Amino acid sequence: VASRLTVRRPKIDQGDTPKYWVLDDPQATHALNILHFGIPAGERYFIDSVRLAMKYVTDPQLKAEAKAFIGQETVHARLHEQAAEHLDLFDTPGIRPVVERADRRREALYRRIDAMPEPRRKRATLLWLSTTLLGEHFTALIADQVFDEAKVDTDALAPAMRELIQWHAAEELEHRTFPYDLYRHIGGGYLTRVAPAVVGIPGVVPGLVLLTSYVMLLDPEIRRPMSIRSYVRAVRGRRSPNLLDFVAQLPVYLRPSHHPDHIASHDDVARAYLQELVA
Ligand SMILES: [Fe+2]
Ligand SMILES: [Fe+2]
Repeated sequence: VASRLTVRRPKIDQGDTPKYWVLDDPQATHALNILHFGIPAGERYFIDSVRLAMKYVTDPQLKAEAKAFIGQETVHARLHEQAAEHLDLFDTPGIRPVVERADRRREALYRRIDAMPEPRRKRATLLWLSTTLLGEHFTALIADQVFDEAKVDTDALAPAMRELIQWHAAEELEHRTFPYDLYRHIGGGYLTRVAPAVVGIPGVVPGLVLLTSYVMLLDPEIRRPMSIRSYVRAVRGRRSPNLLDFVAQLPVYLRPSHHPDHIASHDDVARAYLQELVA
């Protein structure tokens, strides 16, 4: 059975990427630097929820897609970590230890759930997977903006970063329905799906602002928290994703009839991009 997802391994060399790789905009750069040091840990977290769910999957198509999903997220994590290394983000005190602690906690949680007797193991897996669905909802909405010329000007990015972000965003749109379909296939229901959203939806924007401020304070050339005025300027200049727009689309997740198939309006642009990438 062929998967609808393709694992691509683009060669991206960050050698010439400057420190402030969003058109000399330090704040917009740091807002997106979260991707490089934070997203890989998140992707490992998504992967583990899918690995836990594998033993309940009976559909060969979904099995093939699970493998491809894990492959895609693994390559994403690797290339973002390469970018983080290039930018010396991990050398900043306060980043590597935090990421390593998150990884250790995730591994411990995986072992604990994997050792649970049924039906507790499956219930815990569904709950973990539901947080993955929410994370994929967030990434799909941001990814959709990357392919919306009215919102994001990709020419504002240093070339290797532009490649990294476009490729990653396109694959996020490509696999956005997979975790959802997997969740439904193994019996996940509405209440467990929306449970993490009750905390996650109100928390995501404050979380992003705090994280951006955190990395800006760690940067010896900046040492101040995020400024709303520069943020508004960056959104007008299409150098930062539009968080108001993002927020406006979050609640669709709460609809009982929600399916991620319906959330991306620039899916076709993303698909065309991927087609060219492999050609
Ligand atoms: Fe990803
Ligand atoms: Fe993803």
